[in-house]
Amino acid sequence: MKDFLAISDYSSEEIKDLLDIALKLKKQCFKKGNKKLFKGKVLGMIFQKPSLRTRISFDMAMRHCGGDALYLSPSEIGLGKRESIADVARVLSGYVHALMARVFDHAHVLELAKWSEIPVVNGLSDYNHPCQGMADALTIVEKFGKKSKGLNVSYVGDGNNVAVSLMHVSAKLGWNFTIANPEGYDIVPEAVTIAKKIAKETGSKLKFISDPHEAVKKAHVIYTDTWTSMGQEEETAKRELVFPPYQVNAKLVSEADKDVIVMHCLPAHRNHELTDEVADGPHSVIFPQAHNRLHAQKAILARLFEVA
Ligand code: CP
Ligand code: NVA
Repeated sequence: MKDFLAISDYSSEEIKDLLDIALKLKKQCFKKGNKKLFKGKVLGMIFQKPSLRTRISFDMAMRHCGGDALYLSPSEIGLGKRESIADVARVLSGYVHALMARVFDHAHVLELAKWSEIPVVNGLSDYNHPCQGMADALTIVEKFGKKSKGLNVSYVGDGNNVAVSLMHVSAKLGWNFTIANPEGYDIVPEAVTIAKKIAKETGSKLKFISDPHEAVKKAHVIYTDTWTSMGQEEETAKRELVFPPYQVNAKLVSEADKDVIVMHCLPAHRNHELTDEVADGPHSVIFPQAHNRLHAQKAILARLFEVA
């Protein structure tokens, strides 16, 4: 694969292989530091939206492995505005060794990949968030082990970009995936069609429902994300009225498996989609999950640079 644009572009074996590489690089990182696998390589990072985790974890992933990263802000590049995406892609292909892009419109990251001669990584679009999905899978595997087939992953909230990647990685790894969302906030149909096809091959069971209580029954993982994603800010007031029954709070968590872990990609809107009590409680893995972005992304970059 030249690029990393969607979990569904990779086979189950390739996803498992990436997780193995991530586990190995994480161990190496804490033991004596990472080998300089990316020496002489620079990652260009195009951001059309703000970021804490994605920006810093990619930057640090490059530095830990002997490479470098270059942050390109929305105002600097003007992707598709100051210059066409195709031209940006072809120019940057001569300067850096790979690109990571966070965009509003998924078509824009696809366009970037189409025209670049170097690998392109999707750092979140309106459609999906595959790097997040890999870090989520890494966190789940660390908690439940590699023989986690049949695990119940339940997502409660908006059927957004993060839900798409979690659904796809769950299906690829043979985990059962349930989403409970309010009417009108479903996962986009094309992502569901893809997930159903993957699930048929791996035996994963998918459920699309509206009752959060039903969703968390027997759940080993409860996952939530913001009710209003970046780019949807004008809908905030409307969404704040619809989503409260989907809040992940202590009562909801008590209805799941006793060893359930609670996940959130962050940034969290505390006491909206996730209460403080749960975010900082014994079931929460939100910070190890955030830290795993670093290790999962090292694996993705290592594969794309063909050094692992
Ligand atoms: N989870 C995540 O992608 O966080 P940032 O928006 O801070 O990068
Ligand atoms: N769904 C959120 C994820 C942020 C990491 C958004 O797109 O804003």
